[in-house]
Amino acid sequence: MNSFEFYNPVKIVFGKGKIAELPKFIAKDQRVLITYGGGSIKENGVYDQVFDALKGYTVFEFGGIEPNPKYETLMKAVALIRKEKIDFVLAVGGGSVIDGTKLIVAAVPFKGEPWDILSKKAPIVEALPFGAVLTLAATGSEMNSGAVITRNETKEKLAFGSPLLFPQFSILDPTTTFSLPSNQVANGIVDTFIHTTEQYLTYPVNAPIQDRTAEGILLTLIEEAPKAMASRNDYDVKANLMWSATMALNGLIGVGVPSDWATHMIGHELTAYHGLAHGVTLAIVLPSLLRTMIDEKQAKLAQMAERVWGITKGTEREKALAAIDKTEAFFQSLGVKTKLTEYGIGAENFAKIVTRFEERGWKGLGERRMVTPAKVLEILKASL
Ligand code: NZQ
Ligand code: ZN
Repeated sequence: MNSFEFYNPVKIVFGKGKIAELPKFIAKDQRVLITYGGGSIKENGVYDQVFDALKGYTVFEFGGIEPNPKYETLMKAVALIRKEKIDFVLAVGGGSVIDGTKLIVAAVPFKGEPWDILSKKAPIVEALPFGAVLTLAATGSEMNSGAVITRNETKEKLAFGSPLLFPQFSILDPTTTFSLPSNQVANGIVDTFIHTTEQYLTYPVNAPIQDRTAEGILLTLIEEAPKAMASRNDYDVKANLMWSATMALNGLIGVGVPSDWATHMIGHELTAYHGLAHGVTLAIVLPSLLRTMIDEKQAKLAQMAERVWGITKGTEREKALAAIDKTEAFFQSLGVKTKLTEYGIGAENFAKIVTRFEERGWKGLGERRMVTPAKVLEILKASL
């Protein structure tokens, strides 16, 4: 196992009805801004639950944060916070609202152009405190300190993070996810699955706790997914999906092991250029990436074949290939297509993506830095 430091201060409040406990976590004298997305929380009753819980507080609201949150929109919230002297921000929504809120709270005290936080890795030395009410199980943003922001003007989607950007608390009530349409449930399962593989499908370093926890998450997703697709309102299923998503990206399974993240970096470009949902981009890129990089990943893929997919026969190579096929078929079983052409997308932006990676100095992604721009092109071509 590799050496590591681990720090995660997020208080998780899990269960039905827990939104009513908000006053336990926000001081009464705080001026609170509630951030949210396009309005799903008004339709499923979460907005009312939050406002009921915060009766007696001075509350402001900022709605309209888009999926794949846009820098331009978030800067409007920054202006509102500065004007109204907000003390605390409460993000209510999915990963996009929570990620957007992370940039907002970092941008408020930031001197200069906040986009520099993303494009130039400008250091964050201060941030407003914030908490979250999660309504979509997928990103793990509720228990990590990272975020991904899109800039319309330049069609860029970039990640950033800081230890100052952990939520103070996150409320996870699985019933808030009952209203999700099935494609969002499926995208969330794919995202959770691939957060796990980004930290698991690398090379062995004798870290059985991390491996078996990752395998536990994958097995849970495989077991719960058909039930989740068949019924919207099964509390236990939704609870298991929610906790899987949080556990997949709160840092625990990634300690002491190599990690990949090349699927995410390539996927972000497909969102930036084509507007595809995050989970969809990952389902397209991962199978092609695994086939392209199979020599580097063969041992862990064969382990996944045995322990996750129950494949015991064949050579290590045969098992590894079977694990990739099973994984792709799993995404397809959720109704998520795994080829760009199935979305009417061709090779039109491949050259731009490769040039971008070169310009950013991303000359070698992945656990062994072997996903070169030439490999990125090969992976994209295999995704057509
Ligand atoms: O905007 P509203 O009206 O809320 O609707 C949303 C949105 O249209 C809807 N939705 C959310 N909860 C709902 C609901 N609809 C009905 N009932 C509910 N309970 O679902 C749509 C998608 O929401 P979004 O927040 O965009 O989805 P997700 O949670 O998958 O977040 C995706 C974003 O997170 C980033 C992605 O890149 C993407 O921008 N990621 C963040 C990560 C992190 N912070 O660690 C890691 C991930 O890899 C990911 O990159
Ligand atoms: Zn993701």
